[in-house]
Amino acid sequence: MKNHNLKKQLMLFRTDAGTKIPKNDSTSDEIESVSFRELVPEIKDTGYLTHAIFAYPAKFIPQVVRYAINTYTAEGDWVVDPFAGSGTVGVEAYLCKRNAVLLDLNPLLNHIMPLKVYRGKELLSEANLHKLLEGMRKSKRQFTPHWSNVDYWYAPEILEVLSRYWGFIHNTDDGIYSTLIKSALLKVNKRFSYTEDRTPKLARSKRKLNVIAELLKENWREQLDEMVYSLSLKTLKNLNDFVMHTQHQCEHLGTVEFHGGVDSSYVPVPRECDALITSPPYLQAQEYIRSTKMDLFWLGHTEEEIRELSRLEIPYRKADRLIQTETLNKIREMLTRDDLQKRLDSYFCHTVNALENSMNQLRPGAAACIFVGNPRIDGITVELWRILAEYFTERGFVFEKVYEDRIKTRKLFGARKNKNPDGMKSEFLLILRKNAYFNQ
Ligand SMILES: C[S@@+](CC[C@H](N)C(=O)[O-])C[C@H]1O[C@@H](n2cnc3c(N)ncnc32)[C@H](O)[C@@H]1O
Repeated sequence: MKNHNLKKQLMLFRTDAGTKIPKNDSTSDEIESVSFRELVPEIKDTGYLTHAIFAYPAKFIPQVVRYAINTYTAEGDWVVDPFAGSGTVGVEAYLCKRNAVLLDLNPLLNHIMPLKVYRGKELLSEANLHKLLEGMRKSKRQFTPHWSNVDYWYAPEILEVLSRYWGFIHNTDDGIYSTLIKSALLKVNKRFSYTEDRTPKLARSKRKLNVIAELLKENWREQLDEMVYSLSLKTLKNLNDFVMHTQHQCEHLGTVEFHGGVDSSYVPVPRECDALITSPPYLQAQEYIRSTKMDLFWLGHTEEEIRELSRLEIPYRKADRLIQTETLNKIREMLTRDDLQKRLDSYFCHTVNALENSMNQLRPGAAACIFVGNPRIDGITVELWRILAEYFTERGFVFEKVYEDRIKTRKLFGARKNKNPDGMKSEFLLILRKNAYFNQ
């Protein structure tokens, strides 16, 4: 405890010194080039324990989060992530005995977190899982998603089976077992639909229509059941690994609060925090709600709710204030297309709003760790980390450092038709620190 307080005081002391933001034309050695995978050798597999249970576009690699937690927080601290997505920060915070507040527009977060941060102390039993799966196979209860064109995505015989399985799961109050079967069914829903499995967005393709047509000539029922069984079992094993990993430290484990379905740009963070660790949406090609809408429908969300959430997604909504910084203003001057200017303005308005909501709740001396890429818009590179650094250093934060991480295998949104065919090559972890004497 003493050490913890000392560390916090040292952070306060360091706060007001700060470092200058490296200049645009400076040599890149002012930016520390690192590989977070190498800096955190204890994490060998990005999908370890419960991290891989759900697929989610543009997830954090856990090594970045672990590095930020180890370097910028102490045991017992509260970490906030206003763009929590699939909850990587929550899992890492919990494993490192920190507490976390997670917010995200996508309500999937509320379905993900009870599994990914499973707090049970007893190992789960395969026999119980099998009993439930058998019940599901024989069940006749139907659940049809509130999705007007569900028929467009499924062959009728497959839809009938999936509707019965979900009917059973939605009406079974069997805690963690039914929750883990849901995570398996979500993957099966996609595999047995007409949408491409390999792209995050919904896309009905000729190739997939043929795959399903061929499947229907085979023993597809057995294949479907086999997939549900094996994925459920795999998740049960992940959860048991998680239980074993956390069992011995039970009395020190923290709290992970999650608020899915929340617009971070306009919702205040409910408590003071000791650090922010987040990765905001990308400037182009987001659409997380659209990418996960098949999951959301099966989980019981309605078309109206999903439409409303899509409207709030960054950057597909109107800006209500203009964010200005030196670098951002230069980019604005170079952009000739009106629609792209609007997108840029919207992106910075709502991303900065959300960051500011969380950063206002940081205690003096706390670090804000923001992981971003360098996307391009109409061929112009947008140095997100620099723009955010310029904005927040005028508002009570000091620039501490920026790390450059060379991307190896992080899955973003796949190939896109824009002027940047190679996609992003590097990502940056920007570290800002809250000034001790700044009056909001
Ligand atoms: C890069 S992803 C974060 C991924 C996350 N770091 C993970 O490891 O899964 C950005 C997130 O921003 C969320 N988002 C977009 N607009 C938002 C808004 N207005 N309020 C809150 N979250 C929003 C998206 O739903 C998405 O999950």
